[in-house]
Amino acid sequence: MATTRNIPEYDRKSELKAFDDSKSGVKGLLDGGMTKIPLMFIHPRYNPDAKSESAVSQFRVPLIDVDGVNDNATLRAKIIDQVREACENWGFFQVVNHGIPASVLEEMIDGIRGFHEQDTQMKKEFYRRDFKDKVSFLSNFDLFEATAATWKDSLSWPMVPNPPDPTEFPAVCRDIVTEYSKQVKRLGHTLFELLSEGLGLHVNHLKDTGCAEVIFHVGHYYPPCPEPELTLGASRHADSGFLTVLLQDQVGGLQVLHQNQWIDLVPMPGALVINVGVSLQVITNDRFKSIEHRVLANRVSSRVSMASAFGTTLFPSSKLYSPIKELLTQENPPKYKEATLQAHVAYLRGKRV
Ligand code: OGA
Ligand code: NI
Repeated sequence: MATTRNIPEYDRKSELKAFDDSKSGVKGLLDGGMTKIPLMFIHPRYNPDAKSESAVSQFRVPLIDVDGVNDNATLRAKIIDQVREACENWGFFQVVNHGIPASVLEEMIDGIRGFHEQDTQMKKEFYRRDFKDKVSFLSNFDLFEATAATWKDSLSWPMVPNPPDPTEFPAVCRDIVTEYSKQVKRLGHTLFELLSEGLGLHVNHLKDTGCAEVIFHVGHYYPPCPEPELTLGASRHADSGFLTVLLQDQVGGLQVLHQNQWIDLVPMPGALVINVGVSLQVITNDRFKSIEHRVLANRVSSRVSMASAFGTTLFPSSKLYSPIKELLTQENPPKYKEATLQAHVAYLRGKRV
């Protein structure tokens, strides 16, 4: 069990503000020669012993090969089954042979690393909290709301519906951002088609419901951490949107909560991680599960990941959602009323605490 850690009293608000005002992120703290993490990053209830659990676990996040999904009907049916099963039982899976060339994945990781590892002065120009229609560099989207800050910096940009002008992107990753965004959008559409068919719906049902109406990209950088047992790279959370496509480098640290155990999502060259968000759980009436996950901090290496969120409550909308009618029966009545995605997410998060 996690125990509560005693954190000395400090002026949290001023520390957060000074950190944000520095516009240098966590990487900036490290560059300054810091060897003990500031109190604002200490997680009061994080239990580092949980790290060893996955080593003994028999569970593995499903790996799905989608090669030939558009060429062969028998194969397509088999892949749809695998995807459906993964969304029902895990909320997470990895895909290989998804059609995005390995060189594009590598360049995307290098581009995000390149941005975060360049001179701080260059990064400061992008530091802003109004990320909705701009390229933005910031540390911790929820810095001023969360109980504890996490050990990461992020470069984000919206791609659908209002992409920034190409000239607004940092030079170091401008070309690859455009290429990767295009490819991930295509993959996302394919996945929504497979998921729709897996639910027994028309192939375009999820797309027509608006699942790909918003695409938000976030390139995370997790610097090495001098005291990894006191903090986290990302706190335990479930993604708020419909689906997330995640590209990670080979460092590792992402863990998924499965049957009450933290399971390592072991990186695999060329693979992409796919996970169900809370919004998809709601419209499938809990058939597909949005699963909590977190990222451990590590002492030795920096880690890069690139999350592409299809839908996110970071962009509030007044559109109302309820479980898809075609999925409901007398035995399977709606578990959710019609509400905005923000309201659904708040409700489900409240239930989980
Ligand atoms: C996220 C997320 C995991 C990672 O961005 O929502 O969970 O490995 N990222 O960066
Ligand atoms: Ni996430």
